[in-house]
Amino acid sequence: MIVAVDGPAAAGKGTLACRLAERLGFAYMDTGLLYRAVGLAVLRRGVSPGNGEAVVEAAHGVHAAALADPMLRSEIVGHIASQVAVIPAVRAILLTCQRSFARYPPEGTGGAVMDGRDVGTVVCPHAECKLFVTANLAVRAKRRVNELRERGMPAIESQVLAKMHERDRRDQERAIALLRPAEDAFILDTSEMNADVALSMALAYVAPKVSSRMSLHARDQGCRSERS
Ligand code: C5P
Repeated sequence: MIVAVDGPAAAGKGTLACRLAERLGFAYMDTGLLYRAVGLAVLRRGVSPGNGEAVVEAAHGVHAAALADPMLRSEIVGHIASQVAVIPAVRAILLTCQRSFARYPPEGTGGAVMDGRDVGTVVCPHAECKLFVTANLAVRAKRRVNELRERGMPAIESQVLAKMHERDRRDQERAIALLRPAEDAFILDTSEMNADVALSMALAYVAPKVSSRMSLHARDQGCRSERS
């Protein structure tokens, strides 16, 4: 079972997706981290994010160990990630890895919660649950500033807001896999909500779908064991 959680930066989808995964006993994947890993590799190689060939080469060189680098969470890396994310060949490389995680989540988990921009529309268009988590730009910028300061990183609100606006525009206007809600997504605007309220609203949408899927699964298993 797949739960897609898409939305723009700092809308609260990361926290929500993580908590949902924990509550449901599902595996969690932050797909943005993959784009950030390519962004960081590009930064470290001194390659221009507009140089498609060199960026694709960097993308091929990214390994799982790179996903633990604390630099991935920096603003500069997020910005470069959104630049490399417009390159179709980069998206194709990362798509395979995301689909395989969604299809074969780690053993012992009941499914996958995938957090990103295009999970419900491109990566897993057949996901059983699709959430699109959003919030207004000013609220998102404020949240990001607090988050950066909590991590001891300097942050100027007007600059964070301008960069976020630029990143939103690039994500929403690129030629493929653009940031938009799937037609069948449940839209959750967290502008005036704290994380606990957002979680209970998301659970109210997701939990009935999970239990009906689980009871169908149990019924199928029952039929199979009766037959054998
Ligand atoms: O979610 P996060 O802010 O870490 O993502 C960084 C960038 O990676 C986004 O701005 C977006 O351009 C790109 N991204 C994407 N598709 C995804 C996840 C992230 O294009 N599924």
